[in-house]
Amino acid sequence: DTTGFIHRFEPGPDTARPLLLLHGTGGDENDLLPLGRMVAPEAALLAPRGGVSENGMPRFFLRLAEGVFDEADLRRRTGDLAAFVAASRARYGLGPPLALGFSNGANIAASLLMLRPETLTGAVLIRPMVPFAEPPAADLAGRPVLILSGAMDPIVPVENARRLAQQLSASGARVEHRILPAGHGLSQADVSQALAWLRSLP
Ligand code: MLT
Repeated sequence: DTTGFIHRFEPGPDTARPLLLLHGTGGDENDLLPLGRMVAPEAALLAPRGGVSENGMPRFFLRLAEGVFDEADLRRRTGDLAAFVAASRARYGLGPPLALGFSNGANIAASLLMLRPETLTGAVLIRPMVPFAEPPAADLAGRPVLILSGAMDPIVPVENARRLAQQLSASGARVEHRILPAGHGLSQADVSQALAWLRSLP
């Protein structure tokens, strides 16, 4: 059953534009609910748990090493996640979600944008990196994407995140890339930037 992700659903008055919350390595479906509620107080929140376990740490796809992805697995699991979103929209009566992903969750959100652009209306990508060596061609016309990088991130060089921003822009997305005085972890600035950016969307 491709739609069988363990997940949490938190109702909210705004079911037209829910948030799809995608956790980082070692997180789970509960992790980002408080962040989601802070940055989108009205939104319905849909939070799946990644289906891969790396030594007990949940993730959304396999990797060969840190920062080196199993691209075939990423493609397959991106399809599974798109199917989960479609099934959850029908089950909970939701419009198409905007993704809020952190680290590994941001990486599969970027993959969803590239491979299954119909799944998302946009995305907040916190500490993402380029998911595919060769970016798949996608039509992201006008989709808003906020990328938040850490200037001192030891896992994702800022240059790599810049490349992702360029790839998404080249597909037509309306990308804002901000570089925060932070490492790989979430900071208060991520919360305030995401909140202000989400509020600024039409
Ligand atoms: C990944 O594997 O997606 C990236 O290395 C980020 C991480 O999860 O640490």
